Amino acid sequence: MDNYATSAEHYSSTKGWELGNLDFYTIPQKWDEYTDIEHQTWQKLYKNQMEVLEGRAMKSFMPSLKALNINAHEIPRIEKINDILMEKTGWQAVCVPGLIPAEPFFELLANKRFPVGQFIRRPEQMDYIQEPDIFHDVFGHVPILADQTFADHVEAYGHGGLKAAKLGSVDLISRIYWHSVEFGLIKEDDELRIFGAGILSSPTECIFAIDSDSPTRIKFNSERILRTKYDIDDFQENYFVINDFQELFDATKPDFTPLYEKTKNSRTLKPGELHESDEILTKGTGEYAIGAKERRAERKRQKLNSKK
Ligand SMILES: [Fe+2]
Repeated sequence: MDNYATSAEHYSSTKGWELGNLDFYTIPQKWDEYTDIEHQTWQKLYKNQMEVLEGRAMKSFMPSLKALNINAHEIPRIEKINDILMEKTGWQAVCVPGLIPAEPFFELLANKRFPVGQFIRRPEQMDYIQEPDIFHDVFGHVPILADQTFADHVEAYGHGGLKAAKLGSVDLISRIYWHSVEFGLIKEDDELRIFGAGILSSPTECIFAIDSDSPTRIKFNSERILRTKYDIDDFQENYFVINDFQELFDATKPDFTPLYEKTKNSRTLKPGELHESDEILTKGTGEYAIGAKERRAERKRQKLNSKK
């Protein structure tokens, strides 16, 4: 069992897992085993972000990093963060070895446990890593979980996700998470700010999302987002904007069952597509997206060639 419990198969499939088994995918952080190079990677990533997040991250982000003692010095100790986070919102971070299946992920969220990758990216992956590591998860996600309304939203999302899994609609509800918790923008005092962890932990996308003329920023609309596919390999072409976390909580609280049916009978919207129902806040030029299309086609060609 010990061998099985640490195998890749254990963490990438739901084999052996059942609802209620909250510890099935979690692992100890083993903080003492991080190497100097890994701590240096954290320091560099942290420093890079600090140079670009001032004036772009939502206003409570920096104070929250400080309050949770997530600092530039070293990879944080999860148990120390949890001592403070539990006090603030009743949430805790738990270490996982990488991406885990959807249902156990939803169940952890529904129980106020946020899974964080235990590992940190390699130095050659500074700009982009597909699988979420401790920097993306702890720097990007955890500080926002110190906000009670946002934390309540993520908990409700976890419950909604479990329901979606029963209804065969995981792909649909995941779009809500992607366009808010990962890539959401928020309006604060009439300024656009970032709250999505995918942007907060990316040195280039946080500039693109706020400063670029290319993407279109659209008012958050859960029904529209359920229909909207996303691209995981590039900057977003459309960003969805909330006014505050209460709006996000209220918009995603209702039972989505009828909306799933409606969505399944509607045409799926492409990542950069606009819809007549959109309340557009800033219309983008789409300049970056044109290049993105070419880059996607090139990646596809390379994939096909590598299979030959
Ligand atoms: Fe994430």
